[in-house]
Amino acid sequence: MTAGLILTEAVKRLAARGVDEPGPNAQWLLATAMGVERLRLLAEPDLPVTPAALKIFEQHLILKEQGLPLAYILGWQDFRGLRLKVDKRVLVPRPETEELAGLAADFLKTRKGELSALDYGAGSGAIGLWLAKEFPALRVTCAEKSARAINCAAANSTELGLDARVRFVRTATLAPLKGPFDVIVSNPPYIPTGVIPGLAPEVLSEPKMALDGGYDGLDVAGMLVRLAPRRLKPGGALILELGEAQAKKLAALLPDAVWKEKKTFKDLSGIERFVYGRING
Ligand SMILES: C[S@@+](CC[C@H](N)C(=O)[O-])C[C@H]1O[C@@H](n2cnc3c(N)ncnc32)[C@H](O)[C@@H]1O
Repeated sequence: MTAGLILTEAVKRLAARGVDEPGPNAQWLLATAMGVERLRLLAEPDLPVTPAALKIFEQHLILKEQGLPLAYILGWQDFRGLRLKVDKRVLVPRPETEELAGLAADFLKTRKGELSALDYGAGSGAIGLWLAKEFPALRVTCAEKSARAINCAAANSTELGLDARVRFVRTATLAPLKGPFDVIVSNPPYIPTGVIPGLAPEVLSEPKMALDGGYDGLDVAGMLVRLAPRRLKPGGALILELGEAQAKKLAALLPDAVWKEKKTFKDLSGIERFVYGRING
């Protein structure tokens, strides 16, 4: 059997199950099972597929048909050039969160002295670990409610050689974290509870704790807005990712007396998604 024929059949099967992007999903699964680059599959559809590779591919294709996220099947997700191990203990890092991490990096570049950052709700550690890689002297605290997620993030930190500058704290509030931090960056759970049952199967395979932001989706974000000012250095910033229609609403909750600068930013698909607030100092 050739790769091209197998891919054609697999794409039909995934499409019949309503899987998004059946082509790229099938290509990634087959390329990984064969141990070749995905682009090579496209360039050489006549490549033969060994029975052993076909067996692995078939098992993985069934998982994809059942609605498992591709990253869980592959066991990794790339995030701004870092390859992170991910599995069902953590949310799969999203492209828009790469933009959030970029905003935090832009802010840190404006700061002087010993830098420290808090990644609140760290999940796989994507944001905090990438920032630690990007800024060789940065100290990073990754805070997380889920012990299982912390285990995953800590393994990623070790794998990336970042343990000396990254610490992990298990907590469900900012209260035990004194800082002070130059930046608090967070992609909190922000999906309103009532919306969750209607989400796609891929998303429903991810930890509910990573999704459920309470009645209006703003439980954790609201807590961060209230408690962040006393944990930031003078002139420090809180930078958050939120869902559609939430960023402006949250920005309006930042009192002018405390927050010297407030902005919202759109993501690359044009959704007003990020909130940036900088305190006086
Ligand atoms: C949307 S996920 C983000 C994960 C990761 N930062 C990313 O962007 O891929 C939210 C994370 O916050 C954690 N979390 C939920 N409620 C929390 C709370 N009250 N305190 C700390 N972490 C919380 C979840 O376990 C989950 O790992």
